Amino acid sequence: MGLYPEEIVREVQDRADIVEIVSNYVSLKKRGENYVGLCPFHSEKTPSFNVSPKKQLFYCFGCGMGGNVFTFLMKKENWTFPEALRYLADKVGVKLPEERALGKVSEAFKLKRAILEINRIAAEYYHQNLLKTAQAERARRYLSNRGIREETVERFKLGYALPAWDGLINFMRSKGIREDLLLKAGLIIPKNYGKGFYDRFRDRIIFPILDVTGSVVGFGGRILDRGEPKYLNSPETPVFNKREHLYGLPMVDKEKSPIVLVEGYMDCITLHQYGFKQAVASLGTSLTEQQARILRRYTDEVAIAYDSDAAGQAATARGIGILVKEGLRGKGIELAGGNDPDAVIKTRGEEAF
Ligand code: UTP
Ligand code: MN
Repeated sequence: MGLYPEEIVREVQDRADIVEIVSNYVSLKKRGENYVGLCPFHSEKTPSFNVSPKKQLFYCFGCGMGGNVFTFLMKKENWTFPEALRYLADKVGVKLPEERALGKVSEAFKLKRAILEINRIAAEYYHQNLLKTAQAERARRYLSNRGIREETVERFKLGYALPAWDGLINFMRSKGIREDLLLKAGLIIPKNYGKGFYDRFRDRIIFPILDVTGSVVGFGGRILDRGEPKYLNSPETPVFNKREHLYGLPMVDKEKSPIVLVEGYMDCITLHQYGFKQAVASLGTSLTEQQARILRRYTDEVAIAYDSDAAGQAATARGIGILVKEGLRGKGIELAGGNDPDAVIKTRGEEAF
């Protein structure tokens, strides 16, 4: 730890709230002065994992694992101390002395961090496009025709990719961001002929996909008119694998139960807009075991509201099986009056839903 000035480490620790960090991994309930939950380090049915906000420490009476916010992240994410420090410093806005702090950080960690930073900048760029550019008029009209309010655009930070081959590339170049990193972030594609790259997302509504901690890990882009594909998504990158993420997760109101699992981006944001702030989307039809494990941190019951077609029904049955296998209760919601939750709410209202 010698490399890091004591006071910087302490400042990061002071600003980071262990309850908030641990909550990204464990569903915690307040009990007296402390918080308790199911231990993420061993398998148990009754909670023996304790977090003390006062001491900023965690301890499991079942397996004996304990420590502070740094050790929690090191154990949970398999990080070194510099990696946990770097991650938390980013989260709480403490600037670390760059070279010294990066010395012991692996190349893979540095790359992930760079991609997350690029994604954050890209999400902001797309968002500003949607709000401010004349070219986004069609996109704004599209969203308002679909009943999406401005507050929802803000909450989910929806954006717009301009109808150009190099909108993002040029913007990133003006910020000094290298194309090889944009490529690794999945935001640009090498040209088939000749040198250079073009933007992956063009003339599409952009849905940034966040992880449990609120970092932008990828994007979905919807076409405005008819065309293929309807949604284009980020490819797999060092920070994004669609089997491991759920759209809308950090926006979930943890007090609400059950979590409502839907297929689509639009279903998710519509449900939130109409008060169902427990909706998340599984980015396509099939729920994965990884996603079920993430859901377990938030709730013990999930209601699946997939599309009412045959594929949706089959996926609901599969999904319930996976939920149960991961120790959650699962049930299916039968939709009436529309093919998906978005349509049901629009035609029959939120009361009916
Ligand atoms: P749907 O085709 O049911 O679309 O795809 P939707 O969500 O109802 O979208 P709207 O209402 O027409 O805008 C469900 C989900 O499957 C994934 C997306 O995550 C989408 O939200 N999907 C669908 C893709 O990734 N690519 C596609 O081409 C289509
Ligand atoms: Mn739909």
